[in-house]
Amino acid sequence: MPPQGGNRIPLTGLLHTFLFPLLVLATAASAAQGEGARPVFVEEVPYVTTPDSVTATMLELAAVKAGDHVIDLGSGDGRIVIAAARRGATGLGVELDPRLVAESLANAKRAGVADRTRFLEQDLFETDLATATVVTMYLLPDVNLKLRPTILALRPGTRVVSHDWDMGDWKPDRSVTLAVPEKSIGLAKTSRVHLWIVPARVEGLWCGAAQGAAATLRLKQSYQFAQGEIRIAGASPAPVSGRIGGAVLALGKPQSPAAAGLRLGLRGTNAQTTVASGEFTALQGIAWRRARGDDCRAD
Ligand SMILES: C[S@@+](CC[C@H](N)C(=O)[O-])C[C@H]1O[C@@H](n2cnc3c(N)ncnc32)[C@H](O)[C@@H]1O
Repeated sequence: MPPQGGNRIPLTGLLHTFLFPLLVLATAASAAQGEGARPVFVEEVPYVTTPDSVTATMLELAAVKAGDHVIDLGSGDGRIVIAAARRGATGLGVELDPRLVAESLANAKRAGVADRTRFLEQDLFETDLATATVVTMYLLPDVNLKLRPTILALRPGTRVVSHDWDMGDWKPDRSVTLAVPEKSIGLAKTSRVHLWIVPARVEGLWCGAAQGAAATLRLKQSYQFAQGEIRIAGASPAPVSGRIGGAVLALGKPQSPAAAGLRLGLRGTNAQTTVASGEFTALQGIAWRRARGDDCRAD
């Protein structure tokens, strides 16, 4: 991320690896000085703006449109929220620095989107994200990881885009690398943009009824991937694997998961078969519910 102003700290690998831990240690040392000692405030993520071409790619990747509500975590001068509003969405930016909040409000007014945008001086970790259809961030790897459990608990289908940094072993659904010649740090003048779609929770035992007989689907989940076995009307269990795209579970044989023969529309602990072909034909149209325990008959 390039340095963008007088007192603004350029965000580099060096900062992240060396300076940030030192600041945290300084904070801890200060806090340990005694009961009355005030901890030194540490701004976890320095202010560096996302270049316009990267902002456009973030919003494009998340397919932001009218009807969306975009929340930018650590919104800087408001550019991502304002660009989202220009595409017809509503937006909220939360930012710790009051000067940047004031700048964002003025920028939104100038851009003619003040009625569709809000900017709050607020800690991103204290922000309720439940209303977001899209969450955007240009933070740091550790901060993304700290946010990950909150993001995974959001409504299935919520799109999350991050500039440059990923979320550890939750692999993005899509990543794009774009040339950013104006980037002033790093040897490669590129930015990465990652997109995740919050997956529904599917792990457990699902109970359905196929042609009058019981069908069971037992799944393990790792983020947007699921695998397990299906048993249809008393036949031997067959392995399945697939992918969770928001509130849609697409399953197929593990050898050819892309050719998903079974699709379920998920709604909390209920699901409805929307596609059933090949060896899954008997499951056409059936409804499923997730068992509370480990036995469909006990529910
Ligand atoms: C790298 S800048 C990104 C600015 C803007 N989102 C963009 O992409 O152009 C990160 C911003 O997060 C803000 N920030 C850091 N920690 C924060 C926190 N805990 N809550 C809210 N904002 C925070 C910083 O002040 C900074 O403006």
